[in-house]
Amino acid sequence: MLLQKEKILSKIHSPIAVHLYDRVDSTNNEAKRRLDTDGMHLYATTHQTAGRGRRGHDFYSPKDTGLYMTLSFPLSGDPADIQKVTCAAAVAVCEAISALSDRRPQIKWVNDIYIDGKKVAGILTELLCDKENQPAAVIVGIGLNLTTEHFPAEFADRAGSIGDIEPNDLCGTIADRLIILFESLGDNSVIEKYKQLNLCIGHTVAFTKDGFEHKAKAVDITADGGLAVEENGKRTVLHSGEISVIVR
Ligand code: BTN
Repeated sequence: MLLQKEKILSKIHSPIAVHLYDRVDSTNNEAKRRLDTDGMHLYATTHQTAGRGRRGHDFYSPKDTGLYMTLSFPLSGDPADIQKVTCAAAVAVCEAISALSDRRPQIKWVNDIYIDGKKVAGILTELLCDKENQPAAVIVGIGLNLTTEHFPAEFADRAGSIGDIEPNDLCGTIADRLIILFESLGDNSVIEKYKQLNLCIGHTVAFTKDGFEHKAKAVDITADGGLAVEENGKRTVLHSGEISVIVR
């Protein structure tokens, strides 16, 4: 699979620097090392040797069957709301896949993209600080399984692939959508779209909080991207952590 700058740029309607790699440890690591704050940057590859996921997990990134990309947005002033940026990225991924294929992905709170009950993509958003420890950029790493057929045994039952989408088109379309959504993070349209695409709402979810196992009904996404749940008539909002959805 070959990534080509011109093809990717033909899908993006904003100024952005594109950096492509035949192979890299992690596009998020590369964005961190470079810490480019002179505008938006996109780092992309079809092979990561040390892909990173949330909570210190690895992200399986085999050669030529997936797309691994990181968008870097410079920050001036307030640090971005990381959770909302992740929500915007999830919406951008779903919209891009729907625009380029007949697949209809959904979001599992907070950062997983699912098709037909299998995770096909994940998002890792990180805040980068400068030498004075001031927020300098927010980076959004997106890993997508395109044609991967065999996954490591520990998650083979949960992982799936999107299908044969042209990777340059997908990369450019995700970047274009995310740039637009990033610019409108201040209004509630991003969260509205995130809510519409969410597969958790209305279902029972299981999670661990303060050392206890809970089962609650997911009822809403809050304005800051939290998951509102109801358990025995009591409403709480989750802002982090892992949930599993129990579909009855
Ligand atoms: C997750 O599902 O836990 C998040 C996975 C994020 C993976 C992407 S691939 C591109 C970027 N580079 C990385 O090392 N991680 C992110």
